[in-house]
Amino acid sequence: MSDSPFSEVLRNATWSDHESAEDDSYLKALMAGQLSPEAYGEMVAQHYFAYLALDGASKALAGDPIAAPFVFPELYREEALVRDLETIYGAGWRSRIEPSLPTLTLVARINQVSSRPGGYVAHHYTRYMGDLSGGQFIRMELQKIYGYTPGGGVDFYLFDEVGSLPRFKNQYRARLDALPLSDADKQRLIRETKLAYQLNTEVLGELGRVVRAELAA
Ligand code: HEM
Repeated sequence: MSDSPFSEVLRNATWSDHESAEDDSYLKALMAGQLSPEAYGEMVAQHYFAYLALDGASKALAGDPIAAPFVFPELYREEALVRDLETIYGAGWRSRIEPSLPTLTLVARINQVSSRPGGYVAHHYTRYMGDLSGGQFIRMELQKIYGYTPGGGVDFYLFDEVGSLPRFKNQYRARLDALPLSDADKQRLIRETKLAYQLNTEVLGELGRVVRAELAA
């Protein structure tokens, strides 16, 4: 493996996968302000199911020596997602949402690979580093578009308990650099991250159906 820090190797090896994710048509319509709050809620709903799995994996791995540095209770998203869904759909939100097929696939994969710390870190990195990076830009745009304020709507992107996000992300990258994995296991982690990007992009792709239906109406 290269002499570069692993956080850089991982980022460089997966940046083309990031570009495909970022280029998604649902995200584009969302950021262009073309979607109703309910159509935005469809994405929040899919996140809800994925984060139940991811945060569940974090809780299960809290005692694992390799995964534990990537277990951050301050990142858990369930409560924020519930507040967002209540704001968007009202008190009956739970009966309004269901996981799509790509979300069920993503959740199954998270559950399948989280018995290996490297598998867990791949999915954790793909979601949380994204939420802490481009997610912050997305939050500011959504606040402008829908008028949401802290307390529900875009709380999922708010990480108040984390403190300085740049400092946290640097700490996260230092932990990636210090991962005590063999080169072969690091390569597996990179491959799983590429898959994590693909599965997350498929979740967004399915949401594109919502966009087309809404824009056609
Ligand atoms: C509108 C859509 C998106 C925009 C504008 C965006 C933008 C960005 C930007 C600017 C960064 C670099 C931030 C930095 O260096 O601190 C970043 C990092 C990242 N994004 Fe995104 N992103 C988007 C969608 C996504 C999606 C859908 C995912 C995953 C499913 C994702 C995952 C990540 C990850 C894991 C990183 C961290 C890379 C690293 O520094 O190692 N992003 N994003």
